[in-house]
Amino acid sequence: MKRTHSSGGRPFNPETLALGYGYDPSLSQGAIKPPVFLTSTFQFESAAHGKRFFELAYGLKDREKGEDPGLIYSRLNNPNLQMFEERLAAWDQTEKGAAFASGMSAISTSMLALLQPGDHVLSSAPVYGGTHFLFENILPRFGIEVTQIPAGDDFVAQLAAQAEQIGPEKLRVIYLETPANPSNLMVDIEAVSALARRLSVGERPIVTAVDNTFLGPVFQRPAALGADLVIYSATKFIGGHSDLIAGVVTGPEGLLKEITAMRTILGTMATPFSGWLLLRSLETVSIRMRRQAKNARALAQLLAEHPKVERVYYPGLFEEGSAQKLIYDKQCTGPGSLIAFDVAGGEEAAFRALDRFEVIRLAVSLGGTESLVEHPRSMTHADVPPEMLQRFGVGPGLIRLSVGIEHLSDLKRDLRHALD
Ligand SMILES: Cc1ncc(COP(=O)(O)O)c(C=O)c1O
Repeated sequence: MKRTHSSGGRPFNPETLALGYGYDPSLSQGAIKPPVFLTSTFQFESAAHGKRFFELAYGLKDREKGEDPGLIYSRLNNPNLQMFEERLAAWDQTEKGAAFASGMSAISTSMLALLQPGDHVLSSAPVYGGTHFLFENILPRFGIEVTQIPAGDDFVAQLAAQAEQIGPEKLRVIYLETPANPSNLMVDIEAVSALARRLSVGERPIVTAVDNTFLGPVFQRPAALGADLVIYSATKFIGGHSDLIAGVVTGPEGLLKEITAMRTILGTMATPFSGWLLLRSLETVSIRMRRQAKNARALAQLLAEHPKVERVYYPGLFEEGSAQKLIYDKQCTGPGSLIAFDVAGGEEAAFRALDRFEVIRLAVSLGGTESLVEHPRSMTHADVPPEMLQRFGVGPGLIRLSVGIEHLSDLKRDLRHALD
């Protein structure tokens, strides 16, 4: 397929592009799959080539139309990363992608690239515990303030009020995690992106960044809804096999240029081998996510009917006519496979259930082929003060379940066994 993105003017679908886009087998002995390019550096054909590659990589000169940027050094670029980045950008309908060593390095590198002292970030809440720590404890050390606004029905109104108070010169990033980890609450990406555009003044427009880890790239495409940056922990569904840690950002060329420049200096890129694993994984992401969501729908229903379960948080169960359901219908094409639920009896009862699972494994992380359960309040979100978690709807009895591809009957049996 080489670098062909379309045929006869019709673009290929991302599922098809995931199998070959950006790879020319004739350059690798005809191998049907790209080899892993385990190399730190690349040999230049001539000194003039080396000079030109650096001019392009460091943005010293503009690229001619169709000119290949050239391979230099694996902290700057590498074929395994480039193929993965191009294929995911195609999936997200964005211009560029950049792969990172982890989801956290994707988030922190992007924030450091976009922000400077005096800037302000507005964020939905809750967010993943690591992101919360970055926002509350690290960015403020660089003179960057972050205000978190609970996701919920009046989110956009609250955001608009806060944005007005801060002023468009200082407000630089609106950061959304939707659905939120672990509460599954959603915010309206289209409304927020439109607000950011309306408020933007001068040369530093407000950037809307969306953590798309829970539903992307299959069930949610933030760029099509107006968001500027799409951020993932690729450790989760994109990697999909719980065997790697990685992150990725997609978006327009201009922003990605700033972010990859920061990645080059911080050295937060993914390794070639992670890039190779991600290429393998991207081939099946659509099949895996659909199967996982099918299992999750059935388990969410079982939980909703179980007498020991007080409440289930799952997009497939949003109440008809509710604000959350309207957002879901507008921006998602499937409910995903993350379920949060409150068991009666708080932490003690939650721990009792967690210790009884046999098929579903007690471990943090999500999005892999195997089902995992954890207790957000004492594990993934242990960094977040309990009173804040309570405000964001994360109580002591809340369990988060990431549903895998196991046989549904075994998962149902395991869930009943743990809860009964
Ligand atoms: C929604 C979300 N974003 C970001 C991250 C961070 O990703 P990583 O663990 O790959 O650094 C996580 C990790 O759990 C997450 O759930």
